[in-house]
Amino acid sequence: MITASQRVARAASPFDPDNDFGYRQWREEKLARYPVSMSALKVEIRDPRALTATERDALVTAIRRTNLVVYACGIHAAEPDILRALGRQLGLARLDRNFLADDDGLSRVTVAGEKRRGEFIPYTNRPIGWHTDGYYNPPERRIRAMLLHCVRPAAEGGENTLLDHEIAYLRLRDENPAHVRALMLPDALTIPAREDEDGIARPDETGPVFSVEPRSGALHMRYTARTKSIEWKRDAAVAAAVAALARVLATPSPHHHRITLQSGMGILCNNVLHERTGFVDDVAAPRLLYRARYYDRVAGT
Ligand SMILES: [Fe+2]
Repeated sequence: MITASQRVARAASPFDPDNDFGYRQWREEKLARYPVSMSALKVEIRDPRALTATERDALVTAIRRTNLVVYACGIHAAEPDILRALGRQLGLARLDRNFLADDDGLSRVTVAGEKRRGEFIPYTNRPIGWHTDGYYNPPERRIRAMLLHCVRPAAEGGENTLLDHEIAYLRLRDENPAHVRALMLPDALTIPAREDEDGIARPDETGPVFSVEPRSGALHMRYTARTKSIEWKRDAAVAAAVAALARVLATPSPHHHRITLQSGMGILCNNVLHERTGFVDDVAAPRLLYRARYYDRVAGT
């Protein structure tokens, strides 16, 4: 027989640092279902604009396990409509629009000819460190899902590494529950006022790294490995947690998924942690990706 307090603990989020029982249950299930090979996270789709029930099911099943999936389709042309149509079939409707994105809320990620865009990293060929998308966004523009579709890869490089943010949470909590407690503090991470990577002026943005969505109970992560223009709370536990997280990210594991997107391939995820290596372009056919960021999480995950 369980006590009333145990019942309350069981009903609480597994991500609550005080809910040890719920966490252990969640952890066991998460690891048992987690595929260790990238091939289990790849789904072939014929036409992303019109998924079959089997294809949609395969995408959702993968994302349920790992918060991410890589698809490969036969469309190699630059058709941004693919993203909108694919997103819609997966419950992704609310696009995060910004000033430098094209009018329909999609971004073309390519090395910029214009100086303005070139000042911001996604529009250069330099490496990009670990982050989740929109870490500088205010809570009402929280990015819960992201779609990245490759029209043309670079001549060389441009590899992404992806890590499910729930796995990062798990590794930190296993190492020391104080780490996740510190990273859940409401003032753990501040991005000072300035222009963001897309050139939008914005105020200071203070918030936690890990938070639990009140409605869905999903874990959200807000993170950047950058060291400039970022303020971590001055606190020994936060400093220890940030260092531990950097170690988790930098240490290759079976949960780190490396992928160089080829033409017609894409990444669909619940805004997991990712980084990108630098690349070299063929000047006649530079690397081109389309990116969509959504306020919604992939439906059914
Ligand atoms: Fe990103």
